[in-house]
Amino acid sequence: MSSMRLPYVFCSLALAASSVAMSGCDSHAAGTKASGQTQAAQPVTKVAANAVNGAPQAQSRAEVFAHVKQMTGLGEKLFFDPSLSGSGKLACASCHSPSHAFGPPNGLSVQLGGNDMHQPGFRAVPSLRYLQSVPAFTRHFHDSDDEGDESVDAGPTGGLTWDGRVDHGSDQARIPLLSSFEMGSTQAKVTAAVQASPYAEDFRKTFGAHIFDDDDKTFAAVLQSLEAFEQTPEKFYPYASKFDAFLAGRAKLNDAEMHGLQLFNDENKGNCASCHISQRAKDGSPPQFSDFGLIAIGVPRNRALPINKNPNFHDLGACGPERTDLKGQDEYCGIFRTPSLRNVATRKTFFHNGIYHDLEDVVRFYVERDTNPEKFYPVSKKGVVQKFDDLPKKYWDNVNTEAPFDRKKGDKPALDEGEIRDVVAFLGTLTDGYDPAKDKDSQKGTGINEMKSAAN
Ligand code: HEC
Ligand code: HEC
Repeated sequence: MSSMRLPYVFCSLALAASSVAMSGCDSHAAGTKASGQTQAAQPVTKVAANAVNGAPQAQSRAEVFAHVKQMTGLGEKLFFDPSLSGSGKLACASCHSPSHAFGPPNGLSVQLGGNDMHQPGFRAVPSLRYLQSVPAFTRHFHDSDDEGDESVDAGPTGGLTWDGRVDHGSDQARIPLLSSFEMGSTQAKVTAAVQASPYAEDFRKTFGAHIFDDDDKTFAAVLQSLEAFEQTPEKFYPYASKFDAFLAGRAKLNDAEMHGLQLFNDENKGNCASCHISQRAKDGSPPQFSDFGLIAIGVPRNRALPINKNPNFHDLGACGPERTDLKGQDEYCGIFRTPSLRNVATRKTFFHNGIYHDLEDVVRFYVERDTNPEKFYPVSKKGVVQKFDDLPKKYWDNVNTEAPFDRKKGDKPALDEGEIRDVVAFLGTLTDGYDPAKDKDSQKGTGINEMKSAAN
């Protein structure tokens, strides 16, 4: 029950502080296997103090909850506060817009930041929704849901950002705050801004009267609060799409949406669900529309990005240049984390380099990358298609060749134009904020039970 899970922050504070497990904490989401995990029945009374930044010496479970709630409120204020940035103009929310599922507010491939607000980044802004179920990065992922066989190695999986280089929201938040092309700030500037902010008093109440005496502690508290905010279920994982209503039997899919779902799942058609999982997990939790695997799909070079004017620059994902721990390890070059497709229809920019701006173009890329590569990659004067033009040739073995990428030039694409439109119609059912009571057509079409009986 993902939606019933305790917030990760709460779990990490509690688990770090005691050997006793908190029932409701998910080791998968927390990225740790606490040794006490199996003793969930044992009551938790006092949680040791030091894990909680600046909090009183010993805390009951209720006190930990209250502390997390305060941090969440502060995190929200920090998230919307442009005074933390070098320019004084850029907040987290400027790039992660709450009205766009915390994704980009516009159709730019990459957003502008830095002290003059003119510095381009080189990656598209991801949505911050549904990150609660991203596991910690691992090179070898063994999924207990994988056909009952835990020995299957799904390969590199998890971690935050497109290349999976950090595991926790708090470590992640440090990146945009200090990046010269994002918020362009410094630790000292952030802590001074918080002290001068209208919520400084709340900060003292939450983290102790003397929190501002120590810059390191103040900065850590900022990061922890942002992470707590990003765990707010109703804002970050509401499970409130038409597809969720369909799964719950409260709405029906129209013909295009239902056909799109079938094509999305069909191994011989889109085969999308092989990476963007569309079924409930074994424990009954709702589908996340990602298996969080890091995969190379050979996205074309986005020549509109200023950084790509340098022909020697390649964003190779997990093997660098942003990520450094797997540098020089060829098998990690060109791989990026599979994003959830929940709320994807609210975006106007797609893939890690933001090359496409229309969902139909994205689906067309999947089904025609190999059958009609000239549509996506540059063609030389002699008529040779420069396939995988953003990945040096020595890494081409990493590129995925499973369906729908299993065809040759001139073959029939896995989906025709009408089918592409239906897949896109289905993707539109993954947008949160759907209310069956306000949709007069919610009971027209196919319901979950009819779909199940048709399948049997
Ligand atoms: C200038 C635009 C910009 C600003 C401002 C910004 N971000 Fe981001 N954010 C991005 C981009 C681009 C990425 C992807 C980075 C990468 O893959 O290297 C990202 C990634 C993330 C992720 C990881 C998402 C995932 O799918 O794994 C989180 C979490 C996040 N940002 C939180 C924040 C927080 C918190 C702030 C404010 C402190 C913030 N961001 C400010 C552009 C921005
Ligand atoms: C082999 C695994 C795999 C399969 C199969 C797959 N995807 Fe993806 N998908 C990915 C990865 C990895 C990315 C990110 C790639 C990148 O940006 O470099 C992605 C990105 C996307 C995006 C962009 C999302 C965003 O936020 O930018 C969309 C849309 C998408 N996929 C839809 C589909 C559809 C529709 C299908 C079926 C036709 C499909 N995918 C099949 C792995 C897969």
